[in-house]
Amino acid sequence: MKAHLDPSPAGERLVIEPMQQADVPEVLRIEREAFPTQWPADAFYNELSGNKLAYYFVGRCEGGIVAYGGIWVVLEDAHITTLAVGERYRGRRFGELMLLRLIDEALAQNATWMTLEVRESNVVAQQLYRKYGFTTVTSRKAYYSDNNENALVMWAGNLKSELYHNRLCALREAIARS
Ligand SMILES: CC(C)(COP(=O)(O)OP(=O)(O)OC[C@H]1O[C@@H](n2cnc3c(N)ncnc32)[C@H](O)[C@@H]1OP(=O)(O)O)[C@@H](O)C(=O)NCCC(=O)NCCS
Repeated sequence: MKAHLDPSPAGERLVIEPMQQADVPEVLRIEREAFPTQWPADAFYNELSGNKLAYYFVGRCEGGIVAYGGIWVVLEDAHITTLAVGERYRGRRFGELMLLRLIDEALAQNATWMTLEVRESNVVAQQLYRKYGFTTVTSRKAYYSDNNENALVMWAGNLKSELYHNRLCALREAIARS
């Protein structure tokens, strides 16, 4: 399903669609900008072709892929496996729109809770997740092998509660107004 989302403050629209195998080279380009260590191309191809629990999306703007994200859904839990926006396109709510798409997919797949790991130093991503109701519940020591950095483990939910529904509505409205 294709979702036409609200214009960013700069006026460009982000069009979010399920990730296809053909999208992987462009996704890898953003991956290199976004993360100190990257998933190999095989990881994306395997996720797309062989993992029935996985849901991946790309966001297009100005004719190219500028954002991507993915979740695994296992019973009631959705795990954000990745989320990134190309460097030139940050600060335009594209990360937020992609996160919203992941939350919508989690709900569509009947998940109640959502979780992720984020680097302790990644305050930008933590801010984004906090905005969407994620709180830190624990940390995993030396989780990232490139620099032994700790991961914060964040959770959000109950996604199906009226409280969370109202929060999402308010956030969507704020994006539409911006
Ligand atoms: C994290 C990331 C996806 C955010 O995407 P983005 O499109 O730049 O962010 P948005 O414009 O949608 O901003 C949404 C929210 O993110 C947070 N945020 C974004 N930029 C921020 C900054 N420079 N400083 C602090 N918080 C920031 C804020 O909470 C912001 O909401 P607000 O403007 O109401 O305060 C992007 O910075 C990125 O790709 N980073 C590298 C990859 C990464 O860290 N991924 C997450 C892995 S867990």
